[in-house]
Amino acid sequence: MSFDAGKNDLVMGIIGTGVMGRGIAQIAAQAGVSVLMHDAKPGAALDAQKSVHATLSKLAEKGKITAQAAEAAVGRISIVDGLEGFSGADIVVEAIVENIQAKHQLFQSLEGVVGDSCLLATNTSSLSVTEIAAGCRLPGRVGGFHFFNPVPLMKIVEVIDGILTEPWVGESLTALAVRMGHTPVRAKDTPGFIVNHAGRGYVTEALRILGEGIAEHHVVDRILRQGAGFRMGPFELLDLTALDVSHPAMEAIYNQYYQEPRLRPSPIARQRLMAGLLGRKVGRGFYTYTAAGAEAIPEAEIPAVQPTSVWVSAARPAAHAAISGLVTSLGAQLDHGAIPASDSVCIVMPLGADATTACLAENLDPTRTVAIDTLFGLDTHRTIMTTPLTAPNVMYAAHGLFGGDGVPVSVIRDSAGFVAQRVLAVVVNTACDIVQQRVTSPCDLDRAVTLGLGYPKGPLAWGDSIGAGNILGILNEMMAFYGDPRYRPSPWLTRRARLGVSLLTPEN
Ligand code: NAI
Repeated sequence: MSFDAGKNDLVMGIIGTGVMGRGIAQIAAQAGVSVLMHDAKPGAALDAQKSVHATLSKLAEKGKITAQAAEAAVGRISIVDGLEGFSGADIVVEAIVENIQAKHQLFQSLEGVVGDSCLLATNTSSLSVTEIAAGCRLPGRVGGFHFFNPVPLMKIVEVIDGILTEPWVGESLTALAVRMGHTPVRAKDTPGFIVNHAGRGYVTEALRILGEGIAEHHVVDRILRQGAGFRMGPFELLDLTALDVSHPAMEAIYNQYYQEPRLRPSPIARQRLMAGLLGRKVGRGFYTYTAAGAEAIPEAEIPAVQPTSVWVSAARPAAHAAISGLVTSLGAQLDHGAIPASDSVCIVMPLGADATTACLAENLDPTRTVAIDTLFGLDTHRTIMTTPLTAPNVMYAAHGLFGGDGVPVSVIRDSAGFVAQRVLAVVVNTACDIVQQRVTSPCDLDRAVTLGLGYPKGPLAWGDSIGAGNILGILNEMMAFYGDPRYRPSPWLTRRARLGVSLLTPEN
């Protein structure tokens, strides 16, 4: 089948002109494609056309595009009242309601109108492309073209091959995406495709941390923003996307994978959804919102106390050196003894283990022991963690010491993998399993996640920079502690960590 994504007079039909349909119409028209729009709701296509017109005019006013370009793009968009209007289309993209029966019915009706060479694409985010195509006379011409909201700003599109999708379809959609100024990533038809699957790790692990009572939501957000470098904390993100969107998506992906523990949703999210605490759009989610923005939750005050003497575990030599240097620079006395003196505060720096396990491994006194996370450095944020028996005065002294130079400190309860270690390990492991399943290539996975989720690094490159061996070690410790298969390492991670190669290394 021949489809020339670059041809001048390419005609694209768009069905469903809501938030997604109109975004796709805008970028297609800006790329010189003739766009035909249709919506089942009377007046909706006209509204969409006006809205695209207004957006393009605003872009021209701001000098982002020329007035001529805006006018030309507007001139390329027209409305058709019925499906017959698509008879000459080269491609039709559907962005109607997310309902399998509606999509089946639409594609069957469309096939009675369009030519046999017309490519049919779906913008579905949670349904199977294979299942949508299954109702078609020519299922081989159906592919997924999954844009993100807002389409003109989110420069990524997943091109999805269903089981019966013919190769020319993916190739054509890839070329068309490039023409439309977007970065295409190829994905096999699997629940959540790439981005929505990869994004599960961040929020589900944060919800588990909350569920275990390890730290409050704003503390988790702060650690992951300031310490790990995420742009938004997971609870800020949940409030932005709204729980009525994200919780059903979490459930759908989990159930489509037949209750894969790595993707397990949280009962906390469901309960909050039932309570209507949806997030920003209703003014109340994990945070409360007013016209002035999100409520500001102040950081805990740094106690004005310091330990008299500090003993630092030598179990991890590099961490020992870093913490010993920091303790000295903060003005505390180091205890160099092989075993701690009776009045020393003991500091452990576990990878994947909790403070209790690390304390017992070195036969330390749990009332005088605190753990500190060194994995993400100590310059932007410090997380300290207590055992269940750590004495309050020891906790205050450690907090006072590590906050002494103005670097923010969070104090959390005992947790295998603190907060940032375990969240990052789960994010990297989820990504590894996506590439293990050959959903996409390692490079496309990292590209999709950085563009689609705004992570500072692709999860595989991030895993490399932390060290695949460290990620594997954290997961093994968590697996041993919790006994939950949620933490079982992906074969992709295990093999590359053992071989000492990059997580981006593809298989032959
Ligand atoms: P929307 O509700 O804003 O717009 C859907 C439009 O389709 C409405 O104008 C509705 O009147 C029309 N429609 C419904 N059934 C129709 C039919 N049988 N024939 C013609 N028009 C019909 O929905 P939205 O958010 O634009 O989503 C559209 C599709 O894109 C869904 O499949 C959704 O899952 C997917 N998607 C949505 C994203 C988002 O963030 N909103 C992101 C990525 C994909």
